[in-house]
Amino acid sequence: MNTKFEELEIKLETKQAISDLGLIDLTPIQALAIPKMIDGLDFIAEAQTGTGKTFAFAIPIIEKIKLVKETQSLVLCPTRELAIQVYNEFLKLVKYQKDILVAPIVGGESYERQFTALKKKPHIIIGTPGRIIDHLNRGTIDFSKLTQLTFDEADEMLKMGFKEDLEAILQNAPKERQTTLFSATIPQEIKRIAKEYQNNSSIIKAESETLTATKIIQNYYVVKKEDKMKLLERLLDISNMDSNIIFANTKREVDEITEFLREKKFNANSLHGDMKQKERSYVTSNFRNKQLNILVATDVAARGLDIKNVGLVINYDYPQEDEIYVHRIGRTGRAGSEGLAYTLLTPRTEHKIKQLEKFTKTTINKLEIPSEKIITKALENKLIISLKKEVVANTNTYDKIINEFEQEGISKDALLNALLDKLVPSKKVYEVIEEPKQKKSNLSDFDNKKKDRKDSNRKPSKLKDNAVLVKVNLGRKDKITPLIILDMFGSIYNIRNNNIGDIKHYQTYTVVELSSKGHSFINNKTFKYKGKNIKIEEV
Ligand code: CDP
Ligand code: MG
Repeated sequence: MNTKFEELEIKLETKQAISDLGLIDLTPIQALAIPKMIDGLDFIAEAQTGTGKTFAFAIPIIEKIKLVKETQSLVLCPTRELAIQVYNEFLKLVKYQKDILVAPIVGGESYERQFTALKKKPHIIIGTPGRIIDHLNRGTIDFSKLTQLTFDEADEMLKMGFKEDLEAILQNAPKERQTTLFSATIPQEIKRIAKEYQNNSSIIKAESETLTATKIIQNYYVVKKEDKMKLLERLLDISNMDSNIIFANTKREVDEITEFLREKKFNANSLHGDMKQKERSYVTSNFRNKQLNILVATDVAARGLDIKNVGLVINYDYPQEDEIYVHRIGRTGRAGSEGLAYTLLTPRTEHKIKQLEKFTKTTINKLEIPSEKIITKALENKLIISLKKEVVANTNTYDKIINEFEQEGISKDALLNALLDKLVPSKKVYEVIEEPKQKKSNLSDFDNKKKDRKDSNRKPSKLKDNAVLVKVNLGRKDKITPLIILDMFGSIYNIRNNNIGDIKHYQTYTVVELSSKGHSFINNKTFKYKGKNIKIEEV
């Protein structure tokens, strides 16, 4: 049984604020962390990205605040954007407790406002280390009454660069305090460092077999370095998503990608550490409210950001550490929603996938570079889906206009065709992407074949009960890939990806695992693929 917020022993005002957000059940990490934190214990909390770690610490912090004019709690975050987001989450929770003061103290923002806020000795401070140290040096912040310290994205916070900052902050805080750490990834080395800051610490973990949220479908492409931008263009043309994030390893690369995408008329913008805070906030807020569709970012955006409905994450570069991969793709698939992640690899970096699969305990599928034909089909599907929505939502009638056409002898069909002609995207000619040469590997031929077979299969079934196997008369011979199958089932039968489990390709056919819900969408509709009549039958 899930614990419900209603059953928690916390203030009614907090419960009401949570209920206003429409939240009912606690996530597993919340159920573990909240009572422990209210009890004042030190711990390290590990749980996948997007599983509600923010409220797991924010609810108990608010619960413990005493209404005296003292700063009692400090939450440290690695980036300004994350600190501001966490601050906003706190504001939601103290909606009915206006006497609890929460202040964001981050770099790039006006000092004057922060001086004023700090004079009031806010009960809770959410901040980034740099600016907090700045205030400590100026004597404008007072941690002498601090009873609680939380590290969000703890492993990042305890890394070399930040560690010195922490020492400076902790020199000014009482030793007797609760210290809690939260992150999706906490390597052993960091757990060891954490001991220096905690007393009798324990580790709490929300049970999960994989490190990444299971609803994120992970894929990769192998492409020559010089063709990466061209592939990016194709992938974004296909993407159905309102929100897409592209991660690159350097600021320069981020700007180059944004420039390229803008030339191609995509709605894209950059986010990286060299930008002024005003620009950073502007870009993040536009991306949050969907005015901006494509965010091209360095890892400043990899940690913690909770933006609703980020449909697609593309790793333009292979991330420098495996942990970063987990956090980057964790920007999608949040709070149980579906997500899609692509990683672009060159023949030189392809081998890294194995290591990443081991680390994340998932399978990452190799996909074929989408051809013009597939892209055209995907764009058509996009149009059909948006028109279907329009048909349902539309309340206007244009009888008068239609009549005028009919009087001139123009049929509704002819009119419809003319309208569609305007709407169907004109065929785009893509720059050629060469098939990259396979890097020589040490594997024997047999192993290579085995590897190919594995590549064409998706991760182990994520469908639990009542899965149904169906056979499609298209196989490896037809150059079929999991993406084509997903696309086909989605566009023809409207079956969403989360209702599709294992896809196994054989020479002449493919076996697809469907949830019973997915299976119920299969009907007698006939269709062709590359001129071949497609048959789908239960196995
Ligand atoms: O920090 P973490 O990556 O674990 O996730 P988060 O940033 O706290 O985001 C969790 C998302 O799940 C937010 O959008 C919450 O509104 C939502 N959520 C939650 O926090 N708690 C629940 N019990 C249910 C949903
Ligand atoms: Mg978080």
